Amino acid sequence: MIRLFVAIEIPTELRRRMASLCVGINSARWVAEENIHLTLRFIGEVSEDGAEYAAAALDGVRAEPFTIAFRGAGHFGSGQRVRALWLGIDRSEALVSLRGRIDTALVRCGLAPEGRKFHPHVTLARFRDGGSGEIGPWLAANTLFRSVPVAVDRFTLYSSRLGRAGPVYTPEVAYPLSG
Ligand code: 2AM
Repeated sequence: MIRLFVAIEIPTELRRRMASLCVGINSARWVAEENIHLTLRFIGEVSEDGAEYAAAALDGVRAEPFTIAFRGAGHFGSGQRVRALWLGIDRSEALVSLRGRIDTALVRCGLAPEGRKFHPHVTLARFRDGGSGEIGPWLAANTLFRSVPVAVDRFTLYSSRLGRAGPVYTPEVAYPLSG
């Protein structure tokens, strides 16, 4: 079995800038710089065959390149049960449409639909026991985060394996966007 997800890579410079925000909360498990990405569709554990079907299905996804801009910060969970901190993305029909095409292609090839509503975000921290009150200053400091527009001219199928120092994400197949 192999654990897969589909994501948009973030350019190195911007990833570095995002990683520089990963400070100041003791209980946070910060995402490693090389692992920072924008998830389009979580696939989960599939067989070798399932992975091949998924990779082939994604090959049929057509979309024009577009740009996105990252903006603002937020969290999932509340009170004592904060699960994650993230950076947001300016509303983008093109992004939502691409995600929809990817989802349709994967469901058509036999994979289960994803239960979660698509909430585009870039996770920077996760919490094992909830972030509680510690996240306020971080959110205040990053709520005005803004990136320059970033060109999205491909999406990538990643595998995820658990390494000794945390998850290792490997780009398996890149799919260029060309309309
Ligand atoms: P997250 O950033 O919101 O945590 C690789 O693990 C990617 O897949 C992560 O970006 C993560 O989203 C997402 N992911 C992991 N487990 C998931 C699940 N059970 N459902 C949906 N997305 C998941």
